[in-house]
Amino acid sequence: MTDNPTGAELGKKTAAEMALALIEPGMKLGLGSGSTAEWFVRLLGARVREGLEITCAATSRRTASLATECGIEILPLDDVGRLDLTVDGADEIDPALTLIKGGGGCHLVEKIVAAASADMVVIADDSKLVPQLGAFALPVEVATYGWQTTALMIEDVLRVWDVDGTEGGRRMADGTIFETDEGNYILDYHLGRITEAPALSTALNAVPGVVENGLFIGMASRAMIGSADGTAREVRPV
Ligand code: 5RP
Repeated sequence: MTDNPTGAELGKKTAAEMALALIEPGMKLGLGSGSTAEWFVRLLGARVREGLEITCAATSRRTASLATECGIEILPLDDVGRLDLTVDGADEIDPALTLIKGGGGCHLVEKIVAAASADMVVIADDSKLVPQLGAFALPVEVATYGWQTTALMIEDVLRVWDVDGTEGGRRMADGTIFETDEGNYILDYHLGRITEAPALSTALNAVPGVVENGLFIGMASRAMIGSADGTAREVRPV
């Protein structure tokens, strides 16, 4: 990865730089997953190598590995407990800062870590801002046992929902079945639009076999949004 990105990558880096300004010595941090969160980890690593003392938990094995490479010690969440701040990316961000996450298949741990945090800040390039959620397929993490039956029950939920489509499928990666860090499958649902995220999230999580869905509701206090021209702005929920 170049240190001098252009286009959307520059937007991601600029958003990460804006979030970096929030970090203070002694903070307990949750480190998100995905390409934007990886910019944050790299920038944070540079500060740590200069002497910044912080305590960190990671939201994926990949992030933990990158953080370690960058000189950031990663502790298990249970050794840290409550966190001050989690900085993480998102796949879609609506005006209320309700998010779709899980494009990288990490949303279960990302949600646990964000819930353990006093604050969550989202970092993203401006392509992630949407007037309404749903163009990005909603990831639903399910137990491998009986996953096809779980999928039928999820379809039952979606059929009565105010969405444009209910098509879904098990996530694949490079021709093989994608498994999460926790050994579960991801089902991705192309809903088109999501109008009642809190109720949908509750209904999905009530299906036995569903481990966690990718809707993050009321978790992010603000979003740092970077653009391809190298500027970034802070967005608050409306
Ligand atoms: C992983 C995530 C990521 O934060 C999300 O997919 C955004 O990734 P990127 O910054 O690469 O666009 O939720 O589960």
